[in-house]
Amino acid sequence: MIDIHTHVLPGVDDGADSMDAALEMLFLAENSGVDILVTTPHCNIPEEYDNYVSPDLERLWGHLTREAERAGLRLKLCRGMEIFATEELPDLLTDGRAWTLNGTRYFLTEFDFGEDPAFCRYILDRCRNRGFRPIIAHPERYYFLQEDPEIAYEWCRQGYGLQLNKGSLLGRFGRQVQETAVALMDHGLTACVASDAHSPYLRSTHMGEIRDYLTEEYGEDYARLLLAENPARILSGKELLGYEPIPFD
Ligand SMILES: [Fe+2]
Repeated sequence: MIDIHTHVLPGVDDGADSMDAALEMLFLAENSGVDILVTTPHCNIPEEYDNYVSPDLERLWGHLTREAERAGLRLKLCRGMEIFATEELPDLLTDGRAWTLNGTRYFLTEFDFGEDPAFCRYILDRCRNRGFRPIIAHPERYYFLQEDPEIAYEWCRQGYGLQLNKGSLLGRFGRQVQETAVALMDHGLTACVASDAHSPYLRSTHMGEIRDYLTEEYGEDYARLLLAENPARILSGKELLGYEPIPFD
């Protein structure tokens, strides 16, 4: 499996708070069958976490990869960020101030949960027009999308990828989020599922339960598409695969 959304990079956001915690998260991932994991620290959250590309961040990432190797981990680490969408997002990408997913044209982005959907579309389209491909983090958690899931259909029609959180499908964020996540699944709107892990305990990097859930509910092939095939395509800059999206009418 490939997990494209994790807060493993230690000490830079609300994810792993130490190198030990980061390594524990990596072991959990590896032991559950993850072979490639992308570290995606929060970036560009006003007055909380900036985490723009810097020599310090580069050094920290190098430190994590060396420690992981020294600890005997075999899983491969890739770089990315969960970039909060503001007016500046297209410039951050163009200027290389935020890491895309493994250096491809795909980038992981999140919105304020109560964002104006017109602003989302405006920003996504601007990024697309500059040659970047959005992967939208946990759309099922956004209030505006819970109210109007047709927005997700429109995003998919534009070629924007939707990344669901494992915890949403497993009911860890409440019924409304779970129902929205299932609706996105049932309408063929999911590009991939990731952990969005923040610690070795709650919201962890372990992917065993979600693999079992997806295999049971949607079959082995579809589980593999969402947990391995599409994430691999994202990390190598290839087109996403999936069913034809179904509108909500
Ligand atoms: Fe996240």
